[in-house]
Amino acid sequence: MQQDLALLDSLSTGILLLDSNLCVTSLNAAGQAMLETSEARCTGQHASKLVLQPREWLDNLEQALASNSPHASRSMSLVLVSGQEIHVDVIITPISDSPGKTALIVELMAIDRLLKISREESLMHAQETTRAVIRGLAHEIKNPLGGVRGAAQLLARELPDESLAEYTSIIISEADRLRDLVDRLLGPNRQLEFEPINIHEVLEHVQELIAAESGYQVSLDRDYDPSLPALPGDRAQLVQAALNIMRNAVQAAENVADCVITVRTRCQRNFTIGSRRHRLVCHIDILDNGPGVPEDLMHSMFAPMITGRADGTGMGLSIAQSIVSRHGGVLNCDSIPGKTCFSIYLPMESDHADSP
Ligand SMILES: Nc1ncnc2c1ncn2[C@@H]1O[C@H](COP(=O)(O)OP(=O)(O)O)[C@@H](O)[C@H]1O
Ligand SMILES: [Mg+2]
Repeated sequence: MQQDLALLDSLSTGILLLDSNLCVTSLNAAGQAMLETSEARCTGQHASKLVLQPREWLDNLEQALASNSPHASRSMSLVLVSGQEIHVDVIITPISDSPGKTALIVELMAIDRLLKISREESLMHAQETTRAVIRGLAHEIKNPLGGVRGAAQLLARELPDESLAEYTSIIISEADRLRDLVDRLLGPNRQLEFEPINIHEVLEHVQELIAAESGYQVSLDRDYDPSLPALPGDRAQLVQAALNIMRNAVQAAENVADCVITVRTRCQRNFTIGSRRHRLVCHIDILDNGPGVPEDLMHSMFAPMITGRADGTGMGLSIAQSIVSRHGGVLNCDSIPGKTCFSIYLPMESDHADSP
């Protein structure tokens, strides 16, 4: 039995068991994550208390029970108690519980998650390619630049006329400016130093910085999962990543009358990042109620030098993305006007992939 439960908990499909009164008898880990509840909380509850809408949800369960025949619905949008909407394929299978009594097994398969996994994977590949091209280009620029700068310095010493030094100093300072730009493009290149990180301590620190920067004008809301264990990470780099994302949120939302930035943490079980399945993942959402990411930037904003602001550098998200992916994690964004959410997923296991 223990083994059966462990098996069910390792599935990425939600498995809900209902008795003949449509009350919950069991819900596996994936189901708990999807329906945003715990087994302890939902056991004994009627199915209509887990999913508020649509009416079809209950109709299908009642029909499967009455007819004792399976039922499948593709692509249903279920509204949960929290108001959150999930998109799932639902398969209902009646089983004989005790003589004369029918129970139901309900399988829930998150379709948006499946779509997201393949989208994330192609996004991660595209970003790796972009990073590799930029790294190659940056090195090609940096090498001759060193030569140009050195030659200008030599020339400056040999100049017959002092007034010509203005020109060599322009060459030197412009070479320095280019080198800084190239360094920014290359991003943080030191080895990550992993230690056990309390993610809430990191997020609190970032919120203090943001509050000070914004002159204490924005409301910062916390919605933390206090049970989150420590995760292996590089503290300074994670601060940098969260700071870049939160700064963007403030810049986007600060002109909204009741600007609120919400930081939410959750522990996610059985979560796939790229092609790797992780048992436990730390999920951080940074939400703002600003106007949303401009449509034309939605797919390009993680690339370096892409900005929607007149004074932007376009490096914030690219750096955040590269830090998160060096932690073996993934960063993505969902945005509609009034609700923009940047989500960071970080694996909890220590065998991360640090590929600078
Ligand atoms: N929370 C957000 N809401 C709306 N737009 C955003 C948000 N975060 C990022 N963006 C868009 O993505 C662009 C790129 O961000 P970033 O890489 O940090 O560069 P920068 O902030 O220098 O422009 C921003 O200019 C902005 O247009
Ligand atoms: Mg930025």
